[in-house]
Amino acid sequence: MKQKLVSEKLQQLAIPGRVEFANGGGGLPLVKITTPWSAAEIYLHGAHVAGFQKNGEPPLLWMSAASQFAANKPIRGGVPVCFPWFGGREGLPAHGFARLTDWELVETTMLPDGGVSVRLQMPENAGGANAVRGKVEFIVTVNDKLTMELKVANTAAEPLNFEECLHTYFTVGDINDVSVTGLKGVAFLDKVGGTFHKVEADDAIRFSAETDRVYLDTTGAVEIHDAKLGRKIRVEKSGSASTVLWNPWVAKSKAMPDFGDEEFHRMVCVESGNVGQNKITLAPGKTSALKVVLHSQSC
Ligand code: BG6
Repeated sequence: MKQKLVSEKLQQLAIPGRVEFANGGGGLPLVKITTPWSAAEIYLHGAHVAGFQKNGEPPLLWMSAASQFAANKPIRGGVPVCFPWFGGREGLPAHGFARLTDWELVETTMLPDGGVSVRLQMPENAGGANAVRGKVEFIVTVNDKLTMELKVANTAAEPLNFEECLHTYFTVGDINDVSVTGLKGVAFLDKVGGTFHKVEADDAIRFSAETDRVYLDTTGAVEIHDAKLGRKIRVEKSGSASTVLWNPWVAKSKAMPDFGDEEFHRMVCVESGNVGQNKITLAPGKTSALKVVLHSQSC
């Protein structure tokens, strides 16, 4: 009965031909968006964008064929919303509870240009004892690009501290033929085999082993050059001082139950957020906005 009520409420937000609803993996509710340029899929579980594809292009976002779709598991691939912390925290879910929470779809809008925007809200009691005393919204706009915005408003009388990251998995043709530009000269934490403080020396970063790096105090755009697919992806961001690069490579892929052993060849994570020393401290009454715009073009 509860399920039926939820779906009736969702149906009121449908926009024929533009916003529809389906049962996705594991029967989890899925928002399906179609625009003249593209298609996108968003799970309410985690406010998780699980697909974005422009007409005539391979999928921009990568999804693992081994992803689990269950209430108590994060989805593997797409764009996990890491909030209100990033990484591990003893006794608590890795990367925060936002990606394990069922968000509420509160608004769907058809834009004058034919694009679509949807707004999701995290329930106020999400996280239980660790609940955030504020209003947390995720706004996704779909047209010839994908725009995602995580907005946090501090509604309490004390400052609100949190980390946040849009942990974006991109499809690539072959990780051996990929380079990432835009981070030269940026200080980073290299998390492979310990935590090492380094400065990026390369114009074009290439991948030949496990890569797990948190670039700090960097607000610029990053580009992914994919020689095999003949595609350039541009990750533009605002309200973000950290960029994370991740590819698990061989051993770590094998160790993850929800990640195929060979899947690391076809993905790279370029994540935009505010983590570690870039964590946000929000004064009472203030709102922060972490915004990422993903463009792609043939090259
Ligand atoms: C990256 C982290 O952002 O996410 C890695 O830097 C981590 O250390 C990876 O392994 C995946 O995390 P999870 O919790 O989704 O397996």
